[in-house]
Amino acid sequence: MASIPLKKTKAKAGGAGSFLSQWGMFFRQFVKHPGMIGSVIPSSPMLVNRILDQVDWRSTRVFVEYGPGVGTFTRQILDRLPADATLIAIDLNLDFVAYLEAQIDDPRLRVMHGSAADVGRFIREAGHYQADYILSGIPFSTLPEGVGAHICAETRAALRPGGAFLIYQYSSFVRRFLTPLFDSVSEETEWRNIPPCRVIRATRELQMAQAA
Ligand SMILES: C[S@@+](CC[C@H](N)C(=O)[O-])C[C@H]1O[C@@H](n2cnc3c(N)ncnc32)[C@H](O)[C@@H]1O
Repeated sequence: MASIPLKKTKAKAGGAGSFLSQWGMFFRQFVKHPGMIGSVIPSSPMLVNRILDQVDWRSTRVFVEYGPGVGTFTRQILDRLPADATLIAIDLNLDFVAYLEAQIDDPRLRVMHGSAADVGRFIREAGHYQADYILSGIPFSTLPEGVGAHICAETRAALRPGGAFLIYQYSSFVRRFLTPLFDSVSEETEWRNIPPCRVIRATRELQMAQAA
């Protein structure tokens, strides 16, 4: 599925109205699709900063986000992303895709409707070959059988050597898929999130990837 062209109405950034509308939209989608959304409220600013502070922004040309939802990370990624870089945001939920298309007007952003399992195709459609970073908010523990493992394998193939897969989750469930695929997997906890959240980083080492 490709991106959906919609009229862009650019929200006023940071206003209380926009904040409440994002939470309202997020909660309505959780009620409709609890397994797909996996959380009642969007991520906290502390979680967003903790993850995005790990990124080497100067060398980033292609950044992919799985499950942008109402754009909690998306806006902050765009604030840090170099002017000539691309952000590919992929979400399975058409209402979130339409919301993001209408709310964020930025030529660096490509919003794609579909599954993270098709990340390689989405990157090629955006005119690139591989990503420097892939960030995921997908609830791996509630995905249908086999889907999580498939997404992780496609993610590894879509990352450039030396690239990193950054994941935020309420459990360590996803690590079972990462360990056989990536050269290193590390984990920490961000306590200032409701509920506290695991931050997992899986990397393709530069040297080993080139030798393979
Ligand atoms: C916990 S929400 C994260 C929302 C937002 N990034 C945040 O931090 O608040 C999970 C998101 O993953 C999306 N999602 C679930 N399965 C997906 C899949 N297979 N491919 C892409 N997005 C998916 C949902 O539609 C939802 O937007």
